[in-house]
Amino acid sequence: MFNFFKKWKGDPQPFDIEELSNEEIKKGEIPKHIAIIMDGNGRWAKKRALPRIAGHHEGMKVVRKITKQANLLGVEVLTLYAFSTENWKRPKTEVDYLMKLPEEFLTTYLPELIKENVQVRIMGDKQRLPKHTLNAVEKAINDTKKNTGLILNFALNYGSRAEILTAVQHIATDIKTGQLNDSDLTEDVFSSYLMTNSIQDPDLLIRTSGEIRLSNFMLWQLAYTEFWFTDILWPDFNEQSLLQAIYTYQQRGRRFGGI
Ligand code: IPE
Ligand code: IPE
Ligand code: MG
Repeated sequence: MFNFFKKWKGDPQPFDIEELSNEEIKKGEIPKHIAIIMDGNGRWAKKRALPRIAGHHEGMKVVRKITKQANLLGVEVLTLYAFSTENWKRPKTEVDYLMKLPEEFLTTYLPELIKENVQVRIMGDKQRLPKHTLNAVEKAINDTKKNTGLILNFALNYGSRAEILTAVQHIATDIKTGQLNDSDLTEDVFSSYLMTNSIQDPDLLIRTSGEIRLSNFMLWQLAYTEFWFTDILWPDFNEQSLLQAIYTYQQRGRRFGGI
């Protein structure tokens, strides 16, 4: 048949896909690194006439669910965008709550993460984080550093432009001091200056809540990532949503510029 006459109907939509199971999805390729822009907590709360922070609290429970699920599926890295360098613009009460969330999450779930062999990491500008937030996160990183299962990488006070700019500044210094030769500056060397230096690029990016933008997230690392956007608000995202995203990923043909 002349395949090129076939009309592109877009990704299979959730309503086209039956209930999926872990077993079925595991027969196909599991993305090694999944990155998620967890968006829509505020709108979830607004729909219920609740304060925005109630949405963030509900979203935290979804983090637990999805971490567990990703680990079960054999995903190697799960990067979650938890707070952007632009989120400081929000009202102080909301920012304060968002800075308490990592503690709340880790106080409740750290024992479980340890038991499940999950390794916690963070990427972002740590300097601006309140001491209590940083302490909680560093304890989790330390307590899970020997774990060999899923890497749960929180992007906390993360901004991709800032990350790239900092990398360029370090590269400039290293060239000036003779630690790096400008002719040796390859893409791999550049990547090694980023916060993801020990982590492969994402295979799959998910953004919830219907926004179709990157909001300053992993601009360099997402060059060849498959994108999956969904209208589901983050607090409503569940195991089935993750399976649908991976199912869609498995239907795509990744060519990396080849044919
Ligand atoms: C995502 O939900 C969480 C963070 C950005 C911290 P939002 O708080 O952005 O929710 P909406 O977009 O206002 O619905
Ligand atoms: C992106 O969501 C940041 C996080 C999910 C942490 P935002 O809600 O801040 O993004 P914009 O402002 O809608 O682009
Ligand atoms: Mg938002």
